[in-house]
Amino acid sequence: MARDGAVYVCQSCGASHTKWAGQCTACGAWNSLVEEVTSRPPGALAPTRAGKTRGLAFETLETESATPPRIVTGVDEFDRVCGGGVVPGSAILLGGDPGVGKSTLLLQVCASAAARGASCAYISGEEAVEQIRARAHRMGLGHTPVQLAAETALRDILDGLKKEHFDLVVIDSIQTLWSDAHEAGPGSVTQVRSCAAELVRLAKKRGVAVLLVGHVTKDGQIAGPRVVEHMVDAVLSFEGERGYPFRILRGAKNRFGATDEIGVFEMGDSGLREVRNPSALFLNEGGERAAGAAVFAGIEGSRPVLVEFQALVAPSAYGTPRRAVVGWDSGRLAMVLAVLEARCGLGFGTRDVYLNVAGGLRISEPAADLAAAAALASSALDAALPQDCVVFGEVSLSGDVRPVSRMEARLKEAAKLGFSRALGPSGVEGVIGVSRLADAVRRIGEEAWD
Ligand code: TYD
Ligand code: MG
Repeated sequence: MARDGAVYVCQSCGASHTKWAGQCTACGAWNSLVEEVTSRPPGALAPTRAGKTRGLAFETLETESATPPRIVTGVDEFDRVCGGGVVPGSAILLGGDPGVGKSTLLLQVCASAAARGASCAYISGEEAVEQIRARAHRMGLGHTPVQLAAETALRDILDGLKKEHFDLVVIDSIQTLWSDAHEAGPGSVTQVRSCAAELVRLAKKRGVAVLLVGHVTKDGQIAGPRVVEHMVDAVLSFEGERGYPFRILRGAKNRFGATDEIGVFEMGDSGLREVRNPSALFLNEGGERAAGAAVFAGIEGSRPVLVEFQALVAPSAYGTPRRAVVGWDSGRLAMVLAVLEARCGLGFGTRDVYLNVAGGLRISEPAADLAAAAALASSALDAALPQDCVVFGEVSLSGDVRPVSRMEARLKEAAKLGFSRALGPSGVEGVIGVSRLADAVRRIGEEAWD
């Protein structure tokens, strides 16, 4: 039996249990339960003194309330993902792998906002002030009026932020903070949750925009606390493939804007450079387009982006053929392969399949199905697509090619970059229409394009 007042909190998903167990029944993680002592059973309200509650006051939707303007940081790619600047009093979580450039991005955001007149603080629990300063100088931001501090004790941070008013505060990172109200170590769910809750409360109460950095674990979760995701107003993730300079900022949750917007940056010697027109970035420039390549006319957020899908289908040396995919969903690849087998007569049973999205971009649009299928068919049949052809369309399990959103914008962007042909769903003007995937495969195999 559990001791009085003890709860066992899973360090992986934050679920609390009344009894210790080797495995968390909520998320299945092993050895992740850690005892937390509270003075009341989980879920129970703290006792209030009689007469001390304020009661519940209702308001109508009509009442005008003055909303302060957003803080436009001046890093446009960041502002756009936030929904047009940072909302004062909001809390934003920025997640990403270690080394992807979170600290660099937020230092730039801070410096840029400060240069535009906002009062900004950058509090680091990971680096010393000298290190941050040296980095800022290297990035050419040495002259901006950002207030720096190196601190991990939550109490000191809160005290400091109560004494001085800031418009925008960066906390790098939430996993390094510790509150003396708990015994658990920094980075544990207990600490992360309570530190984040305190900071969110401060943000709301004093109208400070708080940007929290959160590291991401191996399996892509923001470490420990999915709990933090519920508390904050927006969750942004910063992504990039190793070996590529491009970094993509994505919104995963946003109470103040759309979540499908992306910001594109390029990491260089002096920090991150904004890429304002990313459409040509992910194309393989120059040379003939080889068999196995197909250019997808995609949409990322509000902008069209052209990106190359590269496939290699090769005889398998081992009994179990390999399927490897970078930049696309492996489940989706399995589906497209199954449709190519079942509806188009292409066999992959004894062949290895590799699929790669060039440039390190991650594509999640269903509109990319036809482009992936075309790249796979092109490699399997050893027949290249025309140099000047883009591809888009959703593929259903029955092998039909379906229309997708914003086809006109896709075609327009493709034309702008010199692509004069498009392979896509039938019935669309300016598109080589295929109503079934088998038709597309036939065209690719016969190289019948005119
Ligand atoms: P950083 O912002 O420290 O990553 P995070 O906070 O997400 O862990 O970025 C670290 C990487 O960025 C590091 O590998 C070096 C690289 N970098 C540059 O290439 N150029 C630069 O100007 C800076 C500041 C960093
Ligand atoms: Mg960092």
